[in-house]
Amino acid sequence: MGSGNDNPFLSPQPLELRGKPISIRYGHGNSAVSESFRLCHGPVTKIANTTRMMPGEIQLDAVGHTFPSGTRALQNVTLSLDSLRFTALIGRSGAGKSTLLRILNGLVRPSEGAVWVRGVNLAAADHATVRVWRRQVGMVFQQFGLVRRLSGLENVLLGRLGYLSPWRTTLRLYPRADREFAMALLERVGLADQAWQRADTLSGGQQQRVAIARALAQRPRLILADEPVSALDPQSAEQVMDLLRAIHLEDNIAVVANLHSLDTVRAYADRVIALQGGRLLFDGPPDVLTDDVTRELYYADEPASLLRR
Ligand SMILES: Nc1ncnc2c1ncn2[C@@H]1O[C@H](COP(=O)(O)OP(=O)(O)OP(=O)(O)O)[C@@H](O)[C@H]1O
Ligand SMILES: [Mg+2]
Repeated sequence: MGSGNDNPFLSPQPLELRGKPISIRYGHGNSAVSESFRLCHGPVTKIANTTRMMPGEIQLDAVGHTFPSGTRALQNVTLSLDSLRFTALIGRSGAGKSTLLRILNGLVRPSEGAVWVRGVNLAAADHATVRVWRRQVGMVFQQFGLVRRLSGLENVLLGRLGYLSPWRTTLRLYPRADREFAMALLERVGLADQAWQRADTLSGGQQQRVAIARALAQRPRLILADEPVSALDPQSAEQVMDLLRAIHLEDNIAVVANLHSLDTVRAYADRVIALQGGRLLFDGPPDVLTDDVTRELYYADEPASLLRR
C-alpha cells in the first residue's frame, strides 16, 4: 500500500475487475495476510430467500411505546408485514415512523403489545433471540450510517459481523466466502470499481448503495429503510429506489421504507402504512390513498390558512 494508510481494504485496484484475480490484504501488522481470488458473479449475489414472507410472519399486535421521557410515540398499532408488497411508511415528523422501524428490528422493546416474528414475541424475548432476529434485518438510513474511514468493501463486510465467531469479530477476520460475497454485492449495486475507496469520499448516492449492499450482506429477510432517499438528489434517489425495488422483487425480501415524498410512494409502493400521532391512520394500496387521507395525514390540526395554500 505504501501510502501510510493502514486500512487493509484501501489498496488500489484495477478498475475492470470482472474475471480478473483480485488480491486483498487483511489483518494488521505482522499478522497481515494477502490472498487472491476472482470475483464471483451471478447467483452468488442473489439472496433469493426460497420462501416469501407471508402475511403473519411478522405481526404487530396492539403495539404502543412510551419513552422514559413520557413521550407516547406509538399507540395500539396492529399490522402484519410480508414480502409480497413493497411497503411505504408515511406520516408527519414525529408520527412514530422511526420508532416503529426500531421496534421491528428489535432495537426498541415496545412498552405495550406484542411483536410476533415466526411465533416468537420480540417484546418479551431474551437478548440472544433478539440478536438472531436483528442480523436478519438490514437497516438503511437517511445519512447512510457507514463507517467513514473504511472502504466501501469493508463497510459491506460489516454486514457479516453478526455471523462471525467472537474471535473473528474482534479481529474482523472475515472468511473468504464473506469477502467474495461482499465484493459481488458491490458489483451488484454498481460499485465494484469503488470497492477500495474510503466511504466518506463516495457521493451520497454511492454511499447509500454501499449501505444497501451492507444490508444484503446480512442475507436479510427484511430490509427497513428510514428515509433512504431524503438526502439524495432526484437521480440518485431514483437509482436507490430502483435498487430497493429490484431487491424486493428478485430476492423475496420484505422491504419497508419510510418515505416523505408521496410521488415516490406512488411510483414504488404496493402498500402504504400511514401513521398519525403514533396511531395507524391508513393501511392499503397507494391508489386508494385519497386527497382526503393525505390532507388528514399531513395537515390535521394545522391552521385553516395553511390548508388553503
Ligand atoms: N429516544 C427517544 N427518547 C424520547 N423521545 C423520543 C425518542 N425517540 C423518539 N422520540 C419521540 O417519539 C416521537 C416519535 O418519534 P419518531 O422519531 O419515531 O418520529 P418520526 O415519524 O420518525 O419523525 P421524523 O419524520 O421527523 O423522523 C417524537 O415525539 C419523538 O420526539
Ligand atoms: Mg424518523
